[in-house]
Amino acid sequence: MRNVLITGGAGFIGSNFVRYFLAQHADVVVVNFDALTYAGNLENLAGVDVDPRYHFVKGDICDRAVVESAFKQFNIDTVVHFAAESHVDRSILGSSVFVQTNVVGTNVMLDVAKQCGVERFLHVSTDEVYGSLGATGKFLETTPLHPNSPYSASKASSDLLALAYQHTYGLPVVMTRCSNNYGPYQFPEKLIPLMIINALNNKPLPVYGDGLNVRDWLHVGDHCAAIDVVLQDGKIGEVYNIGGDNEWKNINIVQTILKELGKPESLISFVKDRPGHDRRYAIDATKIQNELGWSPAHTFELGIKETIDWYIRNESWWKRVMTGEYQEYYFRQYGEVAKA
Ligand code: NAD
Ligand code: DAU
Repeated sequence: MRNVLITGGAGFIGSNFVRYFLAQHADVVVVNFDALTYAGNLENLAGVDVDPRYHFVKGDICDRAVVESAFKQFNIDTVVHFAAESHVDRSILGSSVFVQTNVVGTNVMLDVAKQCGVERFLHVSTDEVYGSLGATGKFLETTPLHPNSPYSASKASSDLLALAYQHTYGLPVVMTRCSNNYGPYQFPEKLIPLMIINALNNKPLPVYGDGLNVRDWLHVGDHCAAIDVVLQDGKIGEVYNIGGDNEWKNINIVQTILKELGKPESLISFVKDRPGHDRRYAIDATKIQNELGWSPAHTFELGIKETIDWYIRNESWWKRVMTGEYQEYYFRQYGEVAKA
């Protein structure tokens, strides 16, 4: 591993990973390949951009010529593929761009990686491909795929393509499926930053349905460490679940944020449920723990406090990313609540 192409490195997890990876490995060249969609922001990489080991290429993963050119220019031997449309609610408003980026774009990445004979291709996926759980049980790597939203269906499709490239062509694919991440640089459309920012602005906190849906939350730094471990030591053709063993009902997350900020629960506004809303996710991460020795280093109690503090200290960051397109999306998604 020497010349590593990271797609989606200007997004939430990608930018955290670029920082983490450069700090962990002295002898690497990192090429951040990112289209800079609404979710991509080079400000997330402030300070990293001056590192001589870091390069940025603005490009769309669906554009084969640009992808090929980046592989050749930097003699790429390793790929970490984060780039995707990532927000479930946006996929419900319109699925086309999700199929285009997540399925067609991943296919381009796999095909160019095969053509260039890379040593390793890590495909970053999600626990949402497994569908929804009842009150008990956890997702295993062997749980059948049952995606429910256009987002998760597009991610499951890309997972199947990645595994098919490994099986058919021997492309050295490894795959991760992680639970919900939180931490610095998360785009404000997602639950935790949205609730922090609305609470700071004394605006309503829109909780979908009864607020009793459950997610397993993992600090983004722990996700980055897990990806690095799988990149180094994961077995070709294998899938590794990543999770925090940290299940929370949405309403309890929102109450925790309000309490931490000293804001009243009267800010909570129960709104129309997300169509097809998955009830519960929970990850069994025994495989990566036992086989690769990874375990989360952050506690949620401290991690959520630090994350709230990060959003307080970085108001100018979120104010900038919330202008323009985001305002249109916010009003379309939240209707009357957005006007309050
Ligand atoms: P994000 O939306 O914050 O960032 C996505 C990045 O991909 C952005 O920088 C964007 O500009 C880039 N991108 C989008 N379309 C592109 C294209 N066509 N060509 C090149 N770049 C493009 O997403 P995230 O939350 O950081 O998620 C990153 C990956 O991790 C995704 O594959 C997602 O499915 C997966 N994942 C996310 C979570 C989570 O909780 N956020 C959990 C598990 C897995
Ligand atoms: O599980 C991994 C997935 O986690 C990733 O693959 C996705 O990219 C990532 O976006 C995330 O998906 P979720 O849909 O679980 O995350 P989100 O932050 O959008 O929502 C978390 C929960 O909070 C979910 O049950 C819906 C609820 N919610 C969300 C928003 C934005 C609300 O109640 N109100 C909201 O306004």
